[in-house]
Amino acid sequence: MSANETKTEVLPNVDGFKICCIGAGYVGGPTMAVIAKHCPNIRVTVVDLSQPRIDAWNSSKLPIYEPGLQDIVESVRGKNLFFTTNIDEEIVAADMIFISVNTPTKTKGIGKGCASNVKNIEACARNIAKVAKSSKIIVEKSTVPVQTASAISKILRANSDGSVDFQVLSNPEFLAEGTAVRDLLAPSRVLIGGPQNEAGFEAINKLVAVYANWVPRQQILTTNVWSSELSKLVANAYLAQRISSINSISMLCEASKADVEEVARAVGADVRIGPHFLRASVGFGGSCFQKDILNLVYLCESFGLPEVAEYWRQVVTMNEWQKERFTRRMISAMFNTITSKKICLYGFAFKKDTGDTRETAAAYVAKYLLDEDAMITIYDPKVEEEDMWMEFKYTLGITEATHPNLKKSIVLVHDPYEAAKDAHAIAIMTEWDEFKDYDYEKIFANMTKPAFMFDGRNILDHQKLYDIGFEVQCIGKQLPSHFDE
Ligand code: NAD
Ligand code: UDX
Repeated sequence: MSANETKTEVLPNVDGFKICCIGAGYVGGPTMAVIAKHCPNIRVTVVDLSQPRIDAWNSSKLPIYEPGLQDIVESVRGKNLFFTTNIDEEIVAADMIFISVNTPTKTKGIGKGCASNVKNIEACARNIAKVAKSSKIIVEKSTVPVQTASAISKILRANSDGSVDFQVLSNPEFLAEGTAVRDLLAPSRVLIGGPQNEAGFEAINKLVAVYANWVPRQQILTTNVWSSELSKLVANAYLAQRISSINSISMLCEASKADVEEVARAVGADVRIGPHFLRASVGFGGSCFQKDILNLVYLCESFGLPEVAEYWRQVVTMNEWQKERFTRRMISAMFNTITSKKICLYGFAFKKDTGDTRETAAAYVAKYLLDEDAMITIYDPKVEEEDMWMEFKYTLGITEATHPNLKKSIVLVHDPYEAAKDAHAIAIMTEWDEFKDYDYEKIFANMTKPAFMFDGRNILDHQKLYDIGFEVQCIGKQLPSHFDE
């Protein structure tokens, strides 16, 4: 009998259950808040090593910005949702432990720049084995290389005295940032992978019972552990591949006078293809796509499949080229020199409705502009200055030590009009809705002429900007220039 066939069974009662989630990040916080909201009889505690992060979850300014999150957290915090650094205590108390820690790309050693670093996962497993005094269901929520669950099982078994049982499930998260709450409240699917034996099915059914409090049963898919782990990587690879595919076509459109938006609309109208993830852009960012594809690439190489690895690597290669190419077009339009020119970036987050800057295309564009000695101002409605500098430091290796005038060359400005004042160019990096509503006549009047607008998200009214007097360029189509008149 497969796990899927168990769905006709009556689900176990999980009222009174205690859930502990290790990792209070972009996934752990929102996911647990939604579980707490929909499962009032389950006590949910989120734990983390970082005291400042936990303090922020317990405050009125949450550590992450997500539309709708504040309301949900405030409605359950202190009732059945708790945030604490008392990790061991909560592990002891829990029936079910989610591991939702970060799994970044390795920066050194074997698989450097490609493989996922699962040291945080292993640290959690070792700690659980050390402190647990009763049987637990361990839920791997982090995105991990396929077969990580079996490594967790082995570590748990090797480090406990055998008196307690650990069932390890895979339950990858598919939320997207900026829409996390919506995605969690109405997920396209919940995926649960588990051991294909009696104890495994029992554990799977308990997790199914938690989600069944608000997710229709037919949308809760159960599989074996490896399929579940791999599906997460493959889902992200497919989504990112669509963006790189349309971005590759954007280059052809610019060369051939086709319009990438018209092409995307025509292609996406085929129900077999669908309209989503066909928005050409300056390049995808975020903490997941690049990391997970590179992880997939590394796995393929490890399993002796170099052709498959190369196929997926191209998705990242194309994305890198799109970011660089965008900057090259800017420089070329601005008469092949941007030395000392003020350039304003609108948006630094990797997408709208989040303050997350991880792997944002904006940082790469800023780096290329910095290499040409431009003076950069950045405006973003949600990005914190500290996060911006962290991104420059950890992703791009840019610090005051490598660039002595860094904090004069890149300045985060809190007013979009001020940021664009005297600038030679504005570049739209993030598709924030508010960018569409600015008074561009006023902005144009205060810019150095010719004033350039590079729309890296194709969100603005290009004809209107042209009529105001801007030299406008966007992704995937040729626009008229005042110089042609
Ligand atoms: P994050 O960096 O925002 O949060 C991870 C948290 O784990 C941090 O607060 C860190 O302090 C904590 N942590 C690390 N090691 C710990 C340990 N040993 N004990 C206790 N706490 C520890 O990461 P995130 O964005 O929430 O991602 C978590 C996982 O979910 C990753 O594997 C990621 O790939 C995956 N994922 C992320 C998203 C997303 O949109 N961010 C979506 C789906 C899946
Ligand atoms: C992604 C997946 O969508 C989500 O299912 C997974 O759980 C985590 O990774 P996220 O990275 O938060 O979510 O956001 P997403 O909406 O996928 O956007 C990723 C990047 O692609 C952003 O930089 C976005 O601007 C860009 N993008 C997206 C495009 O350039 N074009 C598109 O058509 C869609």
